[in-house]
Amino acid sequence: MPISSHIAGLGTETAFEVLARAQALAAGGRSIINLGIGQPDFATPPHIVDAACRALIAGHHGYTPANGIPALREAIAADAAARLGAAVDPDQVVVVPGAKVTMAFAMLIFGSPGAEILHPDPGFPIYRSMIEFSGATAIGYPLAGPDLDFSADEVLARITPRTRLIIVNSPGNPGGGVMAPAELARLVAGLAAHPDVFVLSDEIYARLVFDAARHTSLLTVAALRERLIVLDGLSKTYAMTGWRLGWGIWPGALAELATRLAVNIYSCVNTVAQHAGVAALTGPQAPVDHMLAVLAERRDFLVAALNRLPGVRCGRPGGAFYVFPDITATGFSARELQDRWLDELGVATLAGTSFGPRGAGHIRLAYTAALPDLREALRRIDGWLRRHAAPLPRSA
Ligand SMILES: Cc1ncc(COP(=O)(O)O)c(C=O)c1O
Repeated sequence: MPISSHIAGLGTETAFEVLARAQALAAGGRSIINLGIGQPDFATPPHIVDAACRALIAGHHGYTPANGIPALREAIAADAAARLGAAVDPDQVVVVPGAKVTMAFAMLIFGSPGAEILHPDPGFPIYRSMIEFSGATAIGYPLAGPDLDFSADEVLARITPRTRLIIVNSPGNPGGGVMAPAELARLVAGLAAHPDVFVLSDEIYARLVFDAARHTSLLTVAALRERLIVLDGLSKTYAMTGWRLGWGIWPGALAELATRLAVNIYSCVNTVAQHAGVAALTGPQAPVDHMLAVLAERRDFLVAALNRLPGVRCGRPGGAFYVFPDITATGFSARELQDRWLDELGVATLAGTSFGPRGAGHIRLAYTAALPDLREALRRIDGWLRRHAAPLPRSA
């Protein structure tokens, strides 16, 4: 077929394949516990749903400005000011249909043959996929130690004269790691020697941090603001994955470029979703606090339960809703566990290799299921490992 080689080589996100398989098994009557795809099992808070209904009834049925309705861009700027003390000009905000789109725009703006873009490995799989789609070279940098901590030295060591963009993600997917303030300071200091290198900070999980004092938004780092793109959105914080609403905060003339991409590709974001977004950001935040408290309880349960499994070692992530245990000592590959646990146990998880080569030997579990379901999933996995695994002796 005469299709472009760019498209033929485009990567994907295994989470959607596992989701489709899990849903097909559930439709066939199987009891499925879905710890695969990263979406909260909470409902969108009712006041947000109400705002969307009211927008429809009030006749908000037409196109909006390509960069988003002013009320939403102003709410995003006000939220950054209130939560982070960061001044954001609403004109630098570009509202997009899902946070992922800011990622794609950044790759299209910075990526070209010969350019290098640094991304975390393991990391969100679309980083690599879209970097390569742009023609640029994807350079993975490792996250350090069992808790997949961000290490500024690992990033700085990979900068070359061809580096155009560095992607950082805190709290991170798949490991839930939160960037330590000292590492951020090292990164900022090191980047002073590379003034032409831009940073894309994926902060989609920024509200989901169990110890809020530990997380620093890059928006608060004055030295980076002129070359910083912040990716954020409503999907995770407000349980709105299906509404498709995110944004980018872009420096200087890049907001205009991102808006032009929007005009070329989708014109504007669904109008009703944008009105719902205003309600999410300006309305009561208690549902977010409640979700975070529930997630913390689940994390604590899961970390303890995973560490009791034969051959499994799990750290204690500081944010998001993922754990990423090391399963090397089970003697199985992550991909085999992903496939067999879904087929044989009805428990959907994701192999660490879906997040890059350095994810080998790990499996991601999203704790986006209620505690009784998590308990049941762990009971099934425990039984399976005890039936099948012959743990290898652990190396020191
Ligand atoms: C690290 C990271 N960034 C961005 C996204 C995309 O968010 P959205 O669903 O709003 O496009 C995800 C979703 O899983 C994610 O994990």
